[in-house]
Amino acid sequence: MANEGNKANESCIRPDDPRYKELKAYIDSVRDQEGINIMVLQEAQRLFGYVPLEVQKWISFELDDVSVGELYGISTFYSQFNLTKQGKHKISVCLGTACYVKGAQAIVEALEQQLEIEVGGISDDGMFSLEATRCLGCCSLAPVMMIDDDVYAKLYDTNQIPEILEKYYLETELEDEMESEVGA
Ligand code: FES
Repeated sequence: MANEGNKANESCIRPDDPRYKELKAYIDSVRDQEGINIMVLQEAQRLFGYVPLEVQKWISFELDDVSVGELYGISTFYSQFNLTKQGKHKISVCLGTACYVKGAQAIVEALEQQLEIEVGGISDDGMFSLEATRCLGCCSLAPVMMIDDDVYAKLYDTNQIPEILEKYYLETELEDEMESEVGA
């Protein structure tokens, strides 16, 4: 369930955000193409990291004849779209039956404790968002956790979680170092 009390999860895209300008330029470049609705939503997600209702309303206005309902329908149908702000890395813990009976709830609790958030929240440093999902389609690997596209199978031992998360912190550190070297 979404953690509505989590401030980091609140939408905070200002109407004068310069990314709207970029999105407008993109819309103008694809205006006559087929499948424009999904393309524009994808671009919006690339720019903002998620497509909250306020962005969908803006797109609807820009596209003239596309209703917010249509855009909302697309954004909730395809799992690639996030309607709420996400962390840099998205953690999904499967709470489908097979995973649940094999202890997935303990994974959720360990993550909540370690990241000091609840399901639906984002860690204070913006690194991780946590969500519970339905069956991921790999029940023989239960209990399963995913971080972005990485699958962590048969995760019975929740003591492994700090080490797993550490890997993403290290990767980010490395990326930041490389970026600062390139920029130097
Ligand atoms: S129940 Fe978790 S992968 Fe199917």
